[in-house]
Amino acid sequence: MNIVILAAGMGKRMHSDLPKVLHPVAGRPMLAHVIDTARTLSPSRLVVVVGHGAERVREAVAADDVTFAEQAQQLGTGHAVMQALPQLDDNQPTLVLYGDVPLTTAATLKALVEAAGNTRFGVLTVEMPDPTGYGRIVRDAAGSIVRIVEQKDASEAIRAIREINTGIIVCPTGHLRRWLSTLGNDNAQGEYYLTDTVERAATEGIDIVSAQPAALWETLGVNSKVQLAEVERIHQRNLAQRLLEAGVTLADPARIDVRGELTCGRDVSIDIGCVFEGRVHLGDGVQIGANCVIRNSSIDAGAQVQPFCHIDSAKIGADGRIGPYARLRPGTELGEDVHIGNFVEVKNSQVAAHSKANHLAYVGDATVGARVNIGAGTITCNYDGANKFRTVIEDDVFIGSDTQLVAPVTVRRGATIGAGTTLTKEAPADKLTLSRAKQMTLDAWQRPVKKPKQ
Ligand code: UD1
Ligand code: MG
Repeated sequence: MNIVILAAGMGKRMHSDLPKVLHPVAGRPMLAHVIDTARTLSPSRLVVVVGHGAERVREAVAADDVTFAEQAQQLGTGHAVMQALPQLDDNQPTLVLYGDVPLTTAATLKALVEAAGNTRFGVLTVEMPDPTGYGRIVRDAAGSIVRIVEQKDASEAIRAIREINTGIIVCPTGHLRRWLSTLGNDNAQGEYYLTDTVERAATEGIDIVSAQPAALWETLGVNSKVQLAEVERIHQRNLAQRLLEAGVTLADPARIDVRGELTCGRDVSIDIGCVFEGRVHLGDGVQIGANCVIRNSSIDAGAQVQPFCHIDSAKIGADGRIGPYARLRPGTELGEDVHIGNFVEVKNSQVAAHSKANHLAYVGDATVGARVNIGAGTITCNYDGANKFRTVIEDDVFIGSDTQLVAPVTVRRGATIGAGTTLTKEAPADKLTLSRAKQMTLDAWQRPVKKPKQ
């Protein structure tokens, strides 16, 4: 099958410099969703018709199996398909999709394509309570489709028809080529209408069949930010529904956003307000507290993430305790039962099993052993303004509060670092190391007092 995706339109009503089909749904351009769905039909040709912002659109969705056709001027849907014709294989039917209709399911497209086969014309139609703006499906007395009439060209009687053209059609490619070559633009919009091919087919005695989507939202198009937001919510509701059906507990399916691929083990629960981006995996029994943002990360079985954590490109081991208010940055790898508490930031660091940094710390470019305790206020000074250096903390170390580890520096196995230390040299194993100004008391000192106002 050939698939042509129309994506040349400007999207004036988006009031945006970004080409319309690149506006994201669930974090990805809506056109990318259409291309993904198209791929599930294994097309032999996949052509995207670009026009407005052509360069940006090409760049955004470039792939080996996608080719582009340029429509310099937007002269109508028929004209748009014409631009793709040189790339189409006449021996297979052509399916036309819209780049701004992102939620159509593969199952619906398959049903349409199957109904049409290799010889019939297929139109995806729906009955709308208010069909204003859409092309109307005109049927004869026997119920066969004979033409499609655009809203602006329609008489009162035709406007009363509630069955509309979703825009998605499939038809034999040789015929399509012929019909398009004779298309005119003598209509209310002065455009070359793809929909006019339906009347040609009917006149030539080609069977015209219709199929309907499983749900009305599948054919919603995006022309404005209002519609974009509606489509986003519908898509998110569908994703949440799938998670629920797979056994994930969601505190509120209306308050989760998945912008990528979220996979979950058994008995996972997710509180409200969480955002998942990229690929995220949550192992068995993982609990995610409210208002966490988790991107490209994996969280192993039994781990608990408390509210308000930001986790990016990190691995959390089994039974970890993270947050509240923890930030795990790229390259963080936490072993089993690691605790990262409030206002602790970890970056590009490995922390081995049973280690803890419970309060107000920065662990960057560090290798931390097992059973280490990192006291409140501890920071790795990993950056000299130009270079980054590593800190190594071996197993069973205890770092007292408010310690600065000036990298590169190593703390040997079992060492204890006294509170307030600025560590610039290696701390030997099993000993107490500290740097501290001597404490003193000035007996003669008196606290200044304000003079009473006269
Ligand atoms: C079209 C259909 C109408 C249908 C409606 C469904 C025609 C003539 N009409 O109308 O029957 O009910 O869709 O939403 O086909 N595009 C291009 N190049 C162009 C014109 C359009 O790439 O020259 C793209 C647009 O970017 C858009 C799609 O084709 O993705 C549809 O175009 P649009 O102008 O929205 O069509 P409608 O007038 O809504
Ligand atoms: Mg139009």
